[in-house]
Amino acid sequence: MEPATRRPNNLRSNVLLVRVLSFGLLLLLFLAPFAYTITLNINNSAGVQISGDQESRLRDYYSSVFQDLITEGFLSPESKSLCLETLTGEDVLALKQIGVADSVGVYYNRSGRLPFYNNTFDFEFSGMYRSAEPVQFASEVSRTLKPGGFFVIHTAAKDDYSLNSLLDLFNFCKLIRYRDIDGINPSTPSIREVVLMKENGILSVTGNSDNKCSVPGYKRELIRNAEPLIQKEPLKPWISLRRNVRYLPSMVDISFKNRYVYIDVGARNYGSSIGSWFKKQYPKQNKNFHVYAIEADKAFHEEYRTKKRVTLLPYAAWVRNETLFFEISRELTRTNEERGRGMGRVQAARSSSSFVGDSDKIEGFDFAVWLKKTVSERDFVVVKMDVEGSEFYLVPRLVETGAICLIDELFIECHYNRLQRCCPGKRSPKFQKTYKQCLDLFSSLRESGVLVHQWW
Ligand SMILES: *[C@@H]1O[C@H](CO)[C@@H](O)[C@H](O)[C@H]1NC(C)=O
Ligand SMILES: *[C@@H]1O[C@H](CO)[C@@H](O)[C@H](O)[C@H]1NC(C)=O
Ligand SMILES: *[C@@H]1O[C@H](CO)[C@@H](O)[C@H](O)[C@H]1NC(C)=O
Repeated sequence: MEPATRRPNNLRSNVLLVRVLSFGLLLLLFLAPFAYTITLNINNSAGVQISGDQESRLRDYYSSVFQDLITEGFLSPESKSLCLETLTGEDVLALKQIGVADSVGVYYNRSGRLPFYNNTFDFEFSGMYRSAEPVQFASEVSRTLKPGGFFVIHTAAKDDYSLNSLLDLFNFCKLIRYRDIDGINPSTPSIREVVLMKENGILSVTGNSDNKCSVPGYKRELIRNAEPLIQKEPLKPWISLRRNVRYLPSMVDISFKNRYVYIDVGARNYGSSIGSWFKKQYPKQNKNFHVYAIEADKAFHEEYRTKKRVTLLPYAAWVRNETLFFEISRELTRTNEERGRGMGRVQAARSSSSFVGDSDKIEGFDFAVWLKKTVSERDFVVVKMDVEGSEFYLVPRLVETGAICLIDELFIECHYNRLQRCCPGKRSPKFQKTYKQCLDLFSSLRESGVLVHQWW
């Protein structure tokens, strides 16, 4: 056997390992030198309480699952096998029962290394994927699986988006097949069983330096299910039209993503969209999102200091790093107070000192480049953009740099010469673009596969 690469040295790593021998009672403690926490509990390695009846039902279920995998050639009695995130050990017992003697189960709870050498297993199984550290989990599967070995995962997620997220996560593997099988009880929903095979040789790490990106077909498919774009200019644009939005997480399962990120570009005060909309209304599937608030106006900065899990970027999202002048029209801010937003329009610094007074000098940064440095394709990324007209610069820049493909769902408030409430037929003089130009921006994004929503 080859030596283990590195010993886990984190005392808090909480990997509970249970080795269930064929007679089912003796737990072999062989982890002491690894400084892992070991819990000795025969029925119940992860603190999950189930009845004897449920135990035998689970074992029967897994027996038939593994029998099928043997028939198909993914597993054999000689396979050295590992059950990951085993909750009750029934999957391991089922393997032994059907004659796969060399089987072991591990409860992998936190980040850390599995206490096994590289290329140890012919077969790995995860009946209940719910990792808090998906990339670490995937790389441990990759490390411990032999080249050509099979990894079988059961998941409740059955849409193409989640399957592709899974493949992105386990990108060292080749998809062999997937199919839907019965759940544990006749009353429970069916489960998707995905079979992956570790590829031979060195695998390329994701991410190409190429700027071009194309949105894969399964994502384009989602656009067909999204709410249609509003083709006709709204006659009363001050009435919110948000309620028709079909959010991505209402269409697909987002479990197999690495991180969950929300970026509010032009965040204004916390309550204006992060607090009132994203936190309250966006369907998050119980995931913890990290929030980035991008807001150049100093008036809003103070309150972000006390917000946990929110990172404030006190700059203006722009197409390159440069100093800008930021018009902060106090008057407009006041009239819009009930919506909690002001009107900050960004102007390039070329017009120099004539702005003194009404303008603040601020730092603009290259949003597209920052996005590429901050998130990856394995992350689930939601962006809301309300940037007072800069969207006509930022969106093309996102497309040109390929950063657009990192965004799973995009909400844009497009600024045009809207009709005004005060004076029928009069248009706001603040913006030059027309509704048609906004619509073209949305249509072209959707045509290139970006799930974008109109935001009001
Ligand atoms: C796994 O970790 C989570 C938090 O990281 C904790 O709440 C849970 O109790 C742990 N489960 C076990 C079985 O150790
Ligand atoms: C084990 O695998 C890891 C990651 O896949 C690699 O970095 C390490 O060098 C390998 N160790 C040995 C002894 O081959
Ligand atoms: C632009 O600014 C960002 C953030 O401050 C920095 O990380 C990046 O290196 C800068 N890029 C250039 C080209 O100067």
